[in-house]
Amino acid sequence: MTGGDVENKSLDWRVINNQLQQEQRLQLKQYRLEDEIESTNEMALNVFCKTGSLPAVCFAEKQSCGRGRNGRNWVSPRSQNIYMSLAWQFNLSIVELQSLSLAVGVVVAELMGSYGVGASVKWPNDVLVKGKKLAGVLLESHIKTVGKINLVIGVGLNVSMSDSSVEAIDQPWTDMAAEVKALQIIDRSKLAGELLAAVMTLCSNYEKTGFHPYRKKWLNFDICVDSEVRIVADNVVYNGLCTGIDSQGALRVIIDGSEKVFYAADVNVRLTAN
Ligand code: BTN
Repeated sequence: MTGGDVENKSLDWRVINNQLQQEQRLQLKQYRLEDEIESTNEMALNVFCKTGSLPAVCFAEKQSCGRGRNGRNWVSPRSQNIYMSLAWQFNLSIVELQSLSLAVGVVVAELMGSYGVGASVKWPNDVLVKGKKLAGVLLESHIKTVGKINLVIGVGLNVSMSDSSVEAIDQPWTDMAAEVKALQIIDRSKLAGELLAAVMTLCSNYEKTGFHPYRKKWLNFDICVDSEVRIVADNVVYNGLCTGIDSQGALRVIIDGSEKVFYAADVNVRLTAN
């Protein structure tokens, strides 16, 4: 057995459910464990958000059309990683929710810490280890009525990418099997349950606290803060010094002596030094 060995078993709902607090078990209205599906986010948006009662969660062993940010594909080989979409109804505005995806990155990074993996976050919502992508977060919304938003929180977590399809990944990446240093077997179902419990806790808290407590945590994990960054926004390239994020989760960068803030929708960040 090497550091992080992964048991090659299918996801087991009983094990996932066991990781939830009793209150969360009662709160969760529906779950689906799919063998193969186009995208858990698409399923959660089109089935859970339109027809079902929330919260509801979908996991899949494999996604044939996994969605990444900015229209990219999320490579999703069978039974080695975690693909999870949690649909949740928030009584908050879109503006209040715009930094939630950063908070999801924080809870994923914290969960990695419990496995001894020193993960960082990179704005807006990448989870990295030494600059290599370990997990990605994609939020998609379905507006129900004014003041109520059904949001799908999609998380893709690389657990063990031993499949040949990794050739399709167009950026530096890593997985937990490579990063877990202690001798331990990673039980994907237990990990999936821990991830679900952590994201459900975040959603419950977020309505009460907003982004504030997660902003402080973000800054502890942030790979960009105090680094020179290269930003592409609306096809314009900016170089500057990142000073972190503001209370709304927007990226703060000093460019030519003055501060500019960038919002998630239209910016890419590339580290020029790290
Ligand atoms: C990114 O580009 O970094 C975001 C990737 C998000 C991938 C996850 S996997 C589960 C969920 N279903 C999808 O189709 N996408 C998200």
